[in-house]
Amino acid sequence: MKKKTLRDIQLKNKTVIHRCDFNIKLKECGQAGMAPVSDVRIKAYFPSIFYLLEKGCKIVFMSYLERPGGKVVEQLRLAPVAQRMSQLINRRVYVLEECVGSKVRKFIKQMKPGEMVMLENTRFHPGEEADDNRFAQALADNGEVMVQDAFGQCHRMHASVTGIPRYLPSVAGFYLQGEMQVFDKLMRRPSRPLVLIVGGTKIFDKVGAIRNLIDRADQVLIGGAVANNFLCAQGIDIGRSFMSEPFVDQAKGGRIDPVAIAKNLLRDYADKIFIPQDLVAADSLTEPKKTKIIDLKKKAKLPTTWSFLDIGPRTTEHYLKIIGQAKTVFWDGPMGKYEDVRFRRGTLKIAEAVAENHETTILAGGDTAALAENFGLIFRYSHVSVAGGAALEYLSGKPLPGITALLDN
Ligand code: 3PG
Repeated sequence: MKKKTLRDIQLKNKTVIHRCDFNIKLKECGQAGMAPVSDVRIKAYFPSIFYLLEKGCKIVFMSYLERPGGKVVEQLRLAPVAQRMSQLINRRVYVLEECVGSKVRKFIKQMKPGEMVMLENTRFHPGEEADDNRFAQALADNGEVMVQDAFGQCHRMHASVTGIPRYLPSVAGFYLQGEMQVFDKLMRRPSRPLVLIVGGTKIFDKVGAIRNLIDRADQVLIGGAVANNFLCAQGIDIGRSFMSEPFVDQAKGGRIDPVAIAKNLLRDYADKIFIPQDLVAADSLTEPKKTKIIDLKKKAKLPTTWSFLDIGPRTTEHYLKIIGQAKTVFWDGPMGKYEDVRFRRGTLKIAEAVAENHETTILAGGDTAALAENFGLIFRYSHVSVAGGAALEYLSGKPLPGITALLDN
């Protein structure tokens, strides 16, 4: 391990900023209010949390949640994550509605050793995504040390990722350390064929990462909303199907155009990249009532107000054949809106096929880990990482800025 970990520094009775990736989808749970849809991005941090508690630390949890764009969005507060964490570890986790400022510092100062607090979503402040020095310093003022466990957010040049280490000694937590070790080992010499399955909605990260990984992969199977870029690149009308909002990424030098990248990938790697040839479509993205299969091979067209919500049966069969021959499978992102049973088939079939007899199977991303948990298959894969885009980038051999910023060993 080239970076210091929490075992390498003096932590006794320190106030520790524990940087976690609590970017977890929240759902309405009746009287209980909002709650996380999955616990995997909470349980992942237990080893570090228990170690810090044993050392008598005050733990200050810090994360961003979704993309509120530098302003407060009520539905994106971190309180539901703190409540769920409290239930899981059976200890109180205080909740603050801010992540910087004198009130926050005062609260932390009054906490006793072994107490925990969840700070508010750091992306409520524009300084977070700008990796602004003043904001980074204000975040750093909340602790004496940072333990970085948010592997899934380490590809971002954000104040809470790359900024805090400019002001505080920052070391890797057990989760981050474990992820790096597993990925380094698994991908040093992957058994071939290596099949990469890419779905989900984080188009900007993923389309770029495919370019970095494609030389190592034998086949790349595309699904989910990521496929929409490739369909667009082929001039296919995707109606009202999901497309990401523009997202500026400092670490990648600003804005990227995923459709242009998809076009170039299809030009350069036509023999390796497979995109859906038939899809399950619905009359609405958010409240679908009618559904039908659109077979692109038969020149079927999507009605302009409809959306693609799953890969179709022919595409699924084709993908299953390719997966069946793979020795190593790396999968990031569902094939469609699998939470709705009408659009689950593609994702479920892929999940089952990946779980069958391969040398190495790696699942990555909060949604992929959640679906594996949901389908009861989570123990059938070699490794399930809660990091998505960051894992893809790490595998492509790129240093992640959030890891580079940590103290060298
Ligand atoms: C994730 O969910 O993949 C991470 O938390 C990163 O989120 P981001 O892509 O919004 O930075």
